[in-house]
Amino acid sequence: MTKVGILGLGAYLPSKKLTNFDLEKMVETSDEWIRSRTGIKERRIAALHEKTSDLAVKAALAALRDAKISAEKIDLIVVATISPDSNFPSVACKVQKAIGAKKAAAFDVSAACSGYLYALTTAKQYVQTGLSKRALVIAAERITTLIDWKDRDTCVLFGDGAGACVLGPVRSRGITADFLRAFGEQGELMQVISEEARSPYHPDKKTYTKLPYVLMQGQELFKVAVNSMADAIEEVLKKAKLKKSDIDLIVPHQANDRIITAVAKKLNVPKEKIFINIDKYGNMSAASIAVALYEAKRSKRIKKGDNVVLVAFGAGLVSAANVVKF
Ligand code: ACO
Repeated sequence: MTKVGILGLGAYLPSKKLTNFDLEKMVETSDEWIRSRTGIKERRIAALHEKTSDLAVKAALAALRDAKISAEKIDLIVVATISPDSNFPSVACKVQKAIGAKKAAAFDVSAACSGYLYALTTAKQYVQTGLSKRALVIAAERITTLIDWKDRDTCVLFGDGAGACVLGPVRSRGITADFLRAFGEQGELMQVISEEARSPYHPDKKTYTKLPYVLMQGQELFKVAVNSMADAIEEVLKKAKLKKSDIDLIVPHQANDRIITAVAKKLNVPKEKIFINIDKYGNMSAASIAVALYEAKRSKRIKKGDNVVLVAFGAGLVSAANVVKF
């Protein structure tokens, strides 16, 4: 089967920054608490007019430029998001229209913070089997629309952004191993309960305007996150027939700096081998790894021949990992 590699990377971050000091004025919190418990200093917030699809389009165009490939050559667009503009049309279809990818199939994938890796693995199969020639994989989140800005437990954690890559056939290197897993039985640890907001008219109902917000059991999630990301790394290394010492860089989901530190400790991997940018962006759900991978490549933390492990866990619960040889 065809080998599949990353031909180009792109990202887009909204310009508006929301710092911990801004949050101090909104809820009872402090810069010191947020930094010491999470590693986050600031996050980006999409402008009022910016939808998830707008962020996705900008990241997609950047990735196409980087790959030096025109939109007409793309025949598959997969967007990972849990904060789409609407239930339908999909964000992927909006991107397809905006960039003029006239020959592309397009659909969204919902796997929360593991979404980019679920989308990457899905699109890879299409190219590997020859069903697609070149795919655009995008992770875009305007997750701040799902946040209750009076809830200090969650509002300090998240930010908006998008990242993308172009996948295509390669002669050597490429995505060499994939691992996907779901733990639906633990779905209640993090959820957006939207039934109330969507339910149809009933004479006994009193209210209809409750907005769906993220609800999270942070401490329980913390433990699951550490174990599931460490397990996902072990599993994907087995599939790639690599040892931990073969890893040049790990690009993990950026939910909490302490989670990343705990994973490094559990696996006995030096923290210098882990890419971290949570301080600038917070948790951007699916977009976190997409943006981190783009920044790691741009800042030359990734060199030709490097084995890079991407690893995520997210609401669902779902975990995922890939090995990419650059
Ligand atoms: N500012 C100040 N104090 C706060 C804040 C805040 N923003 N939030 C909570 N506190 C308080 C709590 O009320 C509690 O007070 P108490 O001791 O008087 O009861 C105290 O701080 C400690 O709270 P904990 O919940 O024990 O804090 P913890 O050290 O566990 O950190 C956190 C909380 C950051 C949420 C951590 O548990 C975490 O990162 N969990 C994982 C979250 C995660 O990964 N979410 C995303 C996963 S899925 C996805 O990304 C889609």
